[in-house]
Amino acid sequence: MKKVKQAVALLILRLCLLANIAGLSHGALQVGFYRGKCGIADVEMIVAGVVTARFIRDPTVVAALIRLQFHDCFVNGCDASILIDATNSEKTAIPNLTIRGYDIIDEAKAAVEGFCPGVVSCADLIAIAARDAVFLGGGGRYEVQTGRRDGLVSLAQSVSISIPGPSASIPQTMAVFANKGLNLTDMVLLMAHCSIFKDRLYNFRSTGRPDPTMDSFLANKLRARCPLDTTTTAANNTVDLDQNPFQIPFLDNSYYRQLMLNRGVLEIDQELALHPLTRATVMSIANALDFPIQFGAAMVKMGAIEVLTGMQGEIRRFCTATNWPPFT
Ligand SMILES: *[C@@H]1O[C@H](CO)[C@@H](O)[C@H](O)[C@H]1NC(C)=O
Ligand SMILES: *[C@@H]1O[C@H](CO)[C@@H](O)[C@H](O)[C@H]1NC(C)=O
Ligand SMILES: *[C@@H]1O[C@H](CO)[C@@H](O)[C@H](O)[C@H]1NC(C)=O
Repeated sequence: MKKVKQAVALLILRLCLLANIAGLSHGALQVGFYRGKCGIADVEMIVAGVVTARFIRDPTVVAALIRLQFHDCFVNGCDASILIDATNSEKTAIPNLTIRGYDIIDEAKAAVEGFCPGVVSCADLIAIAARDAVFLGGGGRYEVQTGRRDGLVSLAQSVSISIPGPSASIPQTMAVFANKGLNLTDMVLLMAHCSIFKDRLYNFRSTGRPDPTMDSFLANKLRARCPLDTTTTAANNTVDLDQNPFQIPFLDNSYYRQLMLNRGVLEIDQELALHPLTRATVMSIANALDFPIQFGAAMVKMGAIEVLTGMQGEIRRFCTATNWPPFT
């Protein structure tokens, strides 16, 4: 029975991919898709309220929400498939260990459902929340596109083939990004940025410690590369910085400047700064005066990967389950 379900899921997955290749689902995203569609309520304002309240309690949600969108979009498109709770869903795959923020999306969903049930997709909530996270993290505010629909399929096995591992080579990583329609600049902006993995190094699942599955030698090297920002509002001077949960993550290009200044220590970042294919891009980002604009543009591009629009997919009632659950 499970085999059949998986075969059907794979078939649907392939059909979705084909539809995307045929271009059937592109071009329908727009800024302000929900304007006038949720009574007098402003959907983006509601989400911003939820994310901001969380951010005040826990600034590490910035990295968490950006990574949530990264993982959603790279696996089977930006369709909220990462939110599905099921035996073999994407969530259960290994990279889920570094992902948090599911509850923020659930909270935002409950809030918008209170104004206009069945209108706002979970996939859009992820995108809007990530935009707010970037803004709160000091990365600037970009206009987020909306109009995505929610996917019906979520499979753990899709994860490993879609997310480039930390030891992937530059050409391998480039191929993964190119396959999603993202170029070298997008890759360096999205992949290399510490925010993608930062709280794995410092505050894994709010424990105040690094991810225990991460090699400690590796973690220490990464921590040297991605120091926590020292501008902090926290009053607790006695606590070691690394264990201080009250850090304001700051999204800027200082990471790239470090890459250019320090000789590389570690695989992917060392390679980014030294590899002939990426060196110029890293340097250009390190020197960019418009980093927030570039980063926002890459986020928008990522948010358009293999989206479902129009009549495709559905609008989930609860983000953790499809409406007619064939795969739970
Ligand atoms: C993450 O994956 C582990 C291992 O497969 C699983 O036990 C856990 O429930 C998953 N976490 C979530 C939030 O789904
Ligand atoms: C990547 O695409 C963006 C537009 O989406 C463009 O501004 C940038 O120059 C491109 N970078 C490369 C290396 O082609
Ligand atoms: C400082 O940190 C310790 C240990 O985490 C905690 O018990 C204490 O309440 C903190 N103090 C303040 C003022 O935040």
